[in-house]
Amino acid sequence: MSVIAVGADHAGWQLKEDLKAWLTRNGHQVLDFGTHSPESVDYPDYASQVAESVAASKAERGVLICGTGIGMAMAANKVAGIRAAPCGDAFAARMSREHNDANVLALGARVTQRDTAIEILRIWLETAFAGGRHTRRVEKIADLERRTRPAWSAGEPA
Ligand code: RB5
Repeated sequence: MSVIAVGADHAGWQLKEDLKAWLTRNGHQVLDFGTHSPESVDYPDYASQVAESVAASKAERGVLICGTGIGMAMAANKVAGIRAAPCGDAFAARMSREHNDANVLALGARVTQRDTAIEILRIWLETAFAGGRHTRRVEKIADLERRTRPAWSAGEPA
């Protein structure tokens, strides 16, 4: 069992409910950051909560759903330590884990069918990071994050 943080905007909330049910049935603990209705909301508000919970190790992985998965991934990737992958098929899901050690999965409810989304999620959760040469590359992403982060956000005196 693992703790999975989930979040969605109005375009993704129904799929979030379906994925949440699947996660619970499959023995995961779900931290649901909303949204909880089809009322229009702003996806960065949900991406930030899920990404920050993963970055703070309150959840092992995160799943974000908007219309395309693109906005959620863009917003989540602004949080230090997050590697969010927008995945539209099983191959991308597997590669995002094996090669990129993705810790957040972004899905698009307007472009991916429910059953496909569940299959993507299942594969994404089951696939381990391959390590080896990919470790060096993921470390280079972390270096880039450190080099480009403003000093004030790292708690350093201005
Ligand atoms: C909302 O209409 C839509 O822009 C949002 O769900 C998402 O697709 C953004 O990337």
